[in-house]
Amino acid sequence: MSGKSLSGIIKDIKNFIALEKESGLDEVMLTSILKSKSETKGESGPILLDKKERLKALEEQALGCKECDLSESRRNVVFGQGNPHASLLFIGEAPGMEEDIQGKPFVGRAGTLLTKIIEAIGLKREDVYIANCLKCRPAQNRNPLPSEIIACRSFFMKQIEIIEPKVICCLGKFAAQTLLMTDESITRLRGKFYNFEDTKVMPTFHPAYLLRNPQDKRLVWEDMKKVRDHLKQSPA
Ligand code: URA
Repeated sequence: MSGKSLSGIIKDIKNFIALEKESGLDEVMLTSILKSKSETKGESGPILLDKKERLKALEEQALGCKECDLSESRRNVVFGQGNPHASLLFIGEAPGMEEDIQGKPFVGRAGTLLTKIIEAIGLKREDVYIANCLKCRPAQNRNPLPSEIIACRSFFMKQIEIIEPKVICCLGKFAAQTLLMTDESITRLRGKFYNFEDTKVMPTFHPAYLLRNPQDKRLVWEDMKKVRDHLKQSPA
C-alpha cells in the first residue's frame, strides 16, 4: 500500500491530467498512470507517475517549445537538472554559452561557483535541483526580455509544482522578480524569506554577479546559512 494520502493521490492525478491536456491529449488512459512501484522502491502494487517521470514529460514538452524566438537560435533546451525529490531548488536566469552547448544548467564559471555554494551548506549538486527562468539561451547572454520570461514561466512553475521543494533559492533579480512578482531590486529582496504558496523563497545574488563582485560573497553566505538552517528545521 502506498504511503500517500488520498488528497496527495488526487493532486497527482490532477497534475497528470493537466500535463496530458497541455500536450494536446484529451483522453487519459488510466493504465498509463499506473506503474509498478517495484521500479522505484522495490515494493509491489500500482502507483502514480512519479516526480522523475512527470519532469521527463514536462522536459519533452520544453524540447519542442517554440513559444519565443529563442527557439530559433538555441542549440539545446536547458530544462534543468538534479534530484526530482530535492528539498532545495535553485532558479537562475538563463543558460549561457556553455549551458547551451551542453544542455545542462550552470556548467560554466558561474556554475562552478554555484557548486561551491551548494557544498558550503553541506549538500552536493546531486542533492538539489537546478533550473532557470529561461530554458533557452538569449544571444550574447543579454538580459531576458519580459516576453521571453512570460513565455517560459509556466515551465518553471510546473517544475516547482512537481518537485515541491521546501526552499527555492532565487539566483539574481530575474528569478526573484519573476517568482515573487515584484520589481524590487535584488539588493533589497535578498536575505529574507518570502512565501510562494507552501514554499519558502530566498532571493540572493547570482553567482555571475559574485564573480564580478567577490566582496559580496559574504552576503550570499549569510543568505545560504538561513537556507541551511530552515532545511534542518523543517520536517522530512
Ligand atoms: N547563468 C544562469 O543564470 N543560468 C545558467 O544556467 C548559467 C549561468
